[in-house]
Amino acid sequence: MAKDVLAELAARRSQVEAAGGEKRIAKQHQMGKLTARERILRLLDAGSFVELDMHVKHRCTEFGMEDVEAPGEGVVTGYGTVGGRLVYVFAQDFTVIGGSLGEMHAKKITKVMDLALKMGAPLIGINDSGGARIQEGVDALSGYGQIFYRNTIASGVIPQLSVIMGPCAGGAVYSPALTDFVFMVQGANMFITGPQVIKAVTGEEVSPEELGGARTHNQTSGVAHFMAGSEDECFEQVRTLLSYLPSNNLETAPRVDTQDPVARADEALRNIVPPESNRAYEMRDVITRVVDDGVFFETQALYAPNILTGFARLNGYSIGIIANQPRVLAGCLDINASDKAARFIRFCDAFNIPIVNFVDVPGFLPGTNQEYGGIIRHGAKMLYAYSEATVPKITLIIRKSYGGAYLAMCSRDLGADQVFAWPGAEIAVMGPEGAANIIFRKEIEGSEDPQATRQEKIAEYRERFANPYIAAARGYVDDVIDPMETRSRLACALEMLSSKREDRPAKKHGNIPV
Ligand code: HXC
Repeated sequence: MAKDVLAELAARRSQVEAAGGEKRIAKQHQMGKLTARERILRLLDAGSFVELDMHVKHRCTEFGMEDVEAPGEGVVTGYGTVGGRLVYVFAQDFTVIGGSLGEMHAKKITKVMDLALKMGAPLIGINDSGGARIQEGVDALSGYGQIFYRNTIASGVIPQLSVIMGPCAGGAVYSPALTDFVFMVQGANMFITGPQVIKAVTGEEVSPEELGGARTHNQTSGVAHFMAGSEDECFEQVRTLLSYLPSNNLETAPRVDTQDPVARADEALRNIVPPESNRAYEMRDVITRVVDDGVFFETQALYAPNILTGFARLNGYSIGIIANQPRVLAGCLDINASDKAARFIRFCDAFNIPIVNFVDVPGFLPGTNQEYGGIIRHGAKMLYAYSEATVPKITLIIRKSYGGAYLAMCSRDLGADQVFAWPGAEIAVMGPEGAANIIFRKEIEGSEDPQATRQEKIAEYRERFANPYIAAARGYVDDVIDPMETRSRLACALEMLSSKREDRPAKKHGNIPV
């Protein structure tokens, strides 16, 4: 082969690899940010990355763009492996025209999206961009539209992860929002309209960080699922999450060897719930004592902390956990908790990950702001998501399970395949205090010592109804178990349910109350 063609190839490659040039790369590094290529190399298994489309060029001739070189079109795309499994990836390159998205930049992204969908492998998008390339006008908008469309078509077929490592503004935020999990690094931000527009329109003054930083979206808006202090920490989170997931909806998650004995009994579980029914305890302590090696990988840990969601393993199998958290709002379900849980349930169901529920729930949160905010509609999402889910569903009632929240936490009637209760569980229409006040009102008011009578009636109600045996007598609870055996009983049920097959009527799609 002639030397000059090889030299040309080498020159073209090095020009693309030089990205936006030393100055812009230095600026990126000064801001504590890696370049697009550096990010991909840190995220994927060493030596596995194969780049595609490095020679793509833009076709814009407006506003002097015909003279603008945009190496790699401002986005690096390709495939590689994470934990030895195939993934597709794109990383926007802020050093090239601010990582802005034009027609050909979008085409590079949609090509890897199409490959990911055809091959049934996860897609990871690393976002760091000034948004729609202003010079390209409607072609840039069309590029976003093509990405959004593919995000939607691929939803529920392959896991889609979005990593936000710089600006992500305007309509550009909607691709991450359509994906399954959003990771944000501190310093990155996402918003529909930035601080300047907000100030001009409403007069409000807000910093970019406060408006759309990692903490805001992890804690307040619920847009993001993970927050990281550094890019490397973020990549570790991405790799960990992928380890719990199958590559697509036709597979199951890889089973992982564990040294944690499946029959490990844990006596501490007998005393973990305080004897007083209103005293809080840390639900994570229950979860970590039950699952393999005490590892619970939480999603949306800072959002709606009255409910916990996340992944763990039981006897090596990936499971999705949904658990009430008695330490926050007494574990009540509210609007945000319902949204958080329902979305997580649907993700697990789409990707064949069995669901295990740890229940201690006094009810839905009362209040005008909950009612005005539509707790009826939001709470219904949990009922819908559990009913719709056909993966194995196991429910463990630890302490309280009252009223509508008893159903909303995946009771037998919503299709739980196995329901267990600890001996101190209280399953009832409402708590003994509320119940006694209503059904014994006349006796309490007419008694000589209403206070004492109320206490008597509360005790009577608790004794009679607030226990797991009435539900167990009807078969709503399959067994009342000693807390110390929880791990082995859940693992045994999970194994038994592993061949579960359940169909739903054919339909175009349901209509979850969004
Ligand atoms: C073209 C852009 C660009 C854009 C940045 N650049 N954003 N070029 N289109 N959208 C270019 C800059 O001209 C600059 O080029 C280089 O990228 C780096 O940008 P700087 O401004 O120097 O960087 P910085 O100071 O860090 O500020 C980053 C920024 C700012 C906050 C993101 O660039 C910015 O506000 N950009 C515009 C954001 C925006 O309004 N985008 C459109 C959003 S609407 P040089 O040559 O100097 O290095 C949208 C609609 C999507 O995206 C609709 C989907 C449905």
